[in-house]
Amino acid sequence: MATIEWTNDLSVGIGLIDGQHKMLLKHLNDFAAAVSSHQGPVAISSTLDFLINYTNFHFEEEEKHMTWTKFPGLDAQKREHEEFRKTLANMEAVFKEDGATHELAEDMDNLLVNWLLKHIRGVDMEFGKFLREKGVSINDAE
Ligand SMILES: [Fe+2]
Repeated sequence: MATIEWTNDLSVGIGLIDGQHKMLLKHLNDFAAAVSSHQGPVAISSTLDFLINYTNFHFEEEEKHMTWTKFPGLDAQKREHEEFRKTLANMEAVFKEDGATHELAEDMDNLLVNWLLKHIRGVDMEFGKFLREKGVSINDAE
């Protein structure tokens, strides 16, 4: 199963958000590793819980900063975030129902490669560009 290493081309140019993306990738990789190495359901579900909790935290943070900086792409971000949350919730339901199946492993790959990287390189990069153009820093914001 794919694991993603954070590389500089994933940087959106905002230290705070890059740091959170690194953590998000770590939680995704932990979950993927638990599934692919056939760890027991308790271990897998705990990595999935960490992933879901961290995802919620990160999306709330991004949306909070996009709101106070009046980022015009906020609505698109919210839609994409919601889509990702739903995908995770579906995966959790599948896992509870069927355990760590081959299907779950495939969904993980899809989530890892297609969704998150596209999201970071797409709309999250736009936010970084927007902040640079406005000369606003969110790194020290509350
Ligand atoms: Fe985002």
